[in-house]
Amino acid sequence: MKGGGGGGSGASAYGFPAKRRWKGLVIGVLGLVFLSMLVPLVFLLGLYNGFHTTGYASDSQSSKPDVFQPNAIEPKKEVEGFIDESRETKEPTGLQPSKVEEKPPKVEEKPPKVDALPTHTHENGTKVDGKVQATHRMIAMDESGKPCEWKFGSYCIWREENREVIKDSMINKLKDQLFVARAYYPSIAKLPKQGKLTQELKQNIQELERVLSESTTDLDLPLQIEKKSLNMEAAIVKAKSFPLDCNNVDKKLRQIYDMTEDEASFHMKQSAFLFQLAVQTMPKSLHCLSMQLTVEYFRTDSTNLELSQAEKYADPTLYHYIIFSKNILASSVVINSTVSHAKESGNQVFHVLTDGQNYFAMKLWFLRNSYKDATVEVLNVDHVKLHDEENATFVLPQEFRISFRTLTHSRTEYMSMFSHLHYLLPEIFKNLDKVVVLEDDVVVQRDLSALWSLDMGGKVNGAAQSCHVRLGELKSFLGEHSYNQDDCTWMSGLNVIDLAKWRELDLSQIFRGLVSEKLSKQDKSTDAAALRASLLTFHGQVYALDNSWSVYGLGHDYKVNVQDIEKAATLHYNGYLKPWLELGIPKYKAHWKKFLDREDLFLSKCNINP
Ligand SMILES: *[C@@H]1O[C@H](CO)[C@@H](O)[C@H](O)[C@H]1NC(C)=O
Ligand SMILES: *[C@@H]1O[C@H](CO)[C@@H](O)[C@H](O)[C@H]1NC(C)=O
Ligand SMILES: *[C@@H]1O[C@H](CO)[C@@H](O)[C@H](O)[C@H]1NC(C)=O
Repeated sequence: MKGGGGGGSGASAYGFPAKRRWKGLVIGVLGLVFLSMLVPLVFLLGLYNGFHTTGYASDSQSSKPDVFQPNAIEPKKEVEGFIDESRETKEPTGLQPSKVEEKPPKVEEKPPKVDALPTHTHENGTKVDGKVQATHRMIAMDESGKPCEWKFGSYCIWREENREVIKDSMINKLKDQLFVARAYYPSIAKLPKQGKLTQELKQNIQELERVLSESTTDLDLPLQIEKKSLNMEAAIVKAKSFPLDCNNVDKKLRQIYDMTEDEASFHMKQSAFLFQLAVQTMPKSLHCLSMQLTVEYFRTDSTNLELSQAEKYADPTLYHYIIFSKNILASSVVINSTVSHAKESGNQVFHVLTDGQNYFAMKLWFLRNSYKDATVEVLNVDHVKLHDEENATFVLPQEFRISFRTLTHSRTEYMSMFSHLHYLLPEIFKNLDKVVVLEDDVVVQRDLSALWSLDMGGKVNGAAQSCHVRLGELKSFLGEHSYNQDDCTWMSGLNVIDLAKWRELDLSQIFRGLVSEKLSKQDKSTDAAALRASLLTFHGQVYALDNSWSVYGLGHDYKVNVQDIEKAATLHYNGYLKPWLELGIPKYKAHWKKFLDREDLFLSKCNINP
């Protein structure tokens, strides 16, 4: 290491001829050589891995609003000390052959780069034509070598996407210097009349600690870092020039090292834990919420509470919204945001379709909370027995990522799509001819009543178009069916549905046919088959909603235009960074959070504070 190396030769140049001292140095150095061999081993064993992941866990709470920063995900304060000390791997005194670049072979086991943007945000929507393959991301592997699941919510895929070589040679140099300086500091401080050097060392140590606590890669480093490093080096050289008891320095080094190792192991465990927590925190507390509400529902015999609004549920003159959700908070936010912006709320009826597990909790929640004059009905999909062959298992609207690869380009697109439950809507809501289907990761920011008078030109499905992906690009996926290659794909999230026309065309039957056809052919997953079938079913039946109706990508794209967000009638957090997760993109969370009742008793009981 350069820093150490310079220091080493500097020390001998200063020249303390006394041989005994020299011997002591050699012993000390040998000890350090031993240490420096141990440390790479530690990282080989995977400690390094644990180290960086801490960042994710804590990111969102330090929520720095707005400012778009590539390193939006950064380590939280608590881990600073560890960062300072965890990777001081190289020869501290610098008498070793200094192979600066020889770092622990970490590139392979590198965790996702902490400050990296998801790669797709760098993309320039380049149109790739020709030999495009729609492959579901099967390339990414998890730790055990199994391919990542290509559905959302996969940390594995995320990790894979953010894999990037970290440039950190300067960081490592600084850490080395810090390591050495700390080892010398106590001995120097004990020397009489060295107040100035002690002060200098201390200052330098503090400065580097501060810098390293804020930086994990060279890119984060402040500009004048070279100078800081030189100052530190000079201080170290001076420190080394004093006749110190090498045993003390050595002892101190060992101390630091032991601490580092303990700390590393602690933090590794903790970070793995914290990551889990980050992914699951909200789901866990949501589970708590669901449980608490369910218990409460039966404790208070809430059946009495139920208002008789049933006549409204099926009144075709009202505005009916449909939400599939297992997430109480999310559906509450969708409804609250819709109602909050509605010019008139009394004519709004929300149908929340959920599964048996969340049914009673949802029921109680929507009994306890009112949303202006709107009506909310909670339905248990498990009890909906409609189609003979079909046992409706609850599947949320699904999200897909589609990777396109050519030799020179790769890009990933995100789609959200109806699940097979949507194809039950015409049967469940027999009385209704028109509905608006909202996903639970949507926030409404405008009055939606204009959707109800929208002329869709005889089409069944008014949806946001996504022209980043055209049907022609999915050829290998869609198969032999005839369709217009130039047609854009569409997204679920905000859909205006003409149920009458749907029944007339019997789209549900067409969908079922397409699903089973695919299943009998290749061994594609059922989810993929549903995506394909949905695209084909609605081919030619999609009315493209104006762009101002919805902005999507808030669950994966860090670069959504701020003005678009402000103007949009609805925001769609499609992607895995949902606003109710710790991992949610901080600058988008506020738009979601403001529709929660933070004072709610059950939220505080379950420690929910998104
Ligand atoms: C994308 O690429 C095109 C052509 O290469 C260029 O004109 C455009 O500015 C690029 N857009 C972005 C956002 O980089
Ligand atoms: C679905 O229904 C079929 C027949 O109606 C039944 O045999 C099967 O066990 C059901 N599957 C599940 C998972 O309930
Ligand atoms: C709905 O949102 C408002 C803020 O717009 C909030 O004050 C209120 O508590 C929310 N209601 C519920 C039931 O979450």
